[in-house]
Amino acid sequence: MSYKGKFRVWRGDSEGGELKDYEVEVNEGEVVLDVIHRLQATQTPDMAVRWNCKAGKCGSCSAEINGMPKLMCMCRMNTFAEDEVVTVTPMRTFPVIRDLVTDVSFNYQKAREVPAFKPPADLKPGEYRMQQVDVERSQEFRKCIECFLCQDTCHVIRDHEENKESFSGPRFLMRVAELDMHPLDAADRQHAAQEQHGLGFCNITKCCTEVCPEHIKITDNALIPMKERVVDRKYDPLVWLGNKIRRR
Ligand code: SF4
Ligand code: F3S
Ligand code: FES
Repeated sequence: MSYKGKFRVWRGDSEGGELKDYEVEVNEGEVVLDVIHRLQATQTPDMAVRWNCKAGKCGSCSAEINGMPKLMCMCRMNTFAEDEVVTVTPMRTFPVIRDLVTDVSFNYQKAREVPAFKPPADLKPGEYRMQQVDVERSQEFRKCIECFLCQDTCHVIRDHEENKESFSGPRFLMRVAELDMHPLDAADRQHAAQEQHGLGFCNITKCCTEVCPEHIKITDNALIPMKERVVDRKYDPLVWLGNKIRRR
């Protein structure tokens, strides 16, 4: 079964652009990315779209579909009525390069600002020991495919370009929280979370969690516990020091 689907796609570049209407064939079992590819192959050979795996694992095909941040390759066409207009626009939080492709280098910059795991100076490689429960705690965060949909949706930077400098966004606050939970990490992540990565900007709206294609509980399992630890320490700095010593 196939039908003519109605698509409205943003076309343009960093100078500006507009939504353009297209009619494209849609076949049973297809996802939005299939139809975008068919549009590119049959009507708009110059249309820019970033993708790689078509399996929800590379995090490249992030866009906004009817205003919702989603992976185009994981958004099934049978979730729309046949006569519904499907609007596809680039992620709004990042500068457009062309059509559906955005410049996500903001995220790479923020990634570089999180120092790597720092083991205690008196432990040599091979001497690291940690409990299985501590290993498992970080596994959830390691599922991240770096699609940056959480970064795109967070209102702190989505609507406020001026906050980008002082706010790293949910993906990288989650990374800081993961390192802070690591029993062998000796860096002071709590101070950095608050002072350098802007943890205080997050008012736990949970929009990041809602759009995560890996269903990582970013807010409940990373950001809120991190906020709690920062508050504990603010009222009693010895708590932080004591926790670090006890963990080892
Ligand atoms: Fe994407 Fe989820 Fe990773 Fe954010 S945390 S970049 S939404 S996979
Ligand atoms: Fe933004 Fe997520 Fe916090 S959407 S405000 S980082 S809970
Ligand atoms: Fe890889 Fe969509 S193409 S996640």
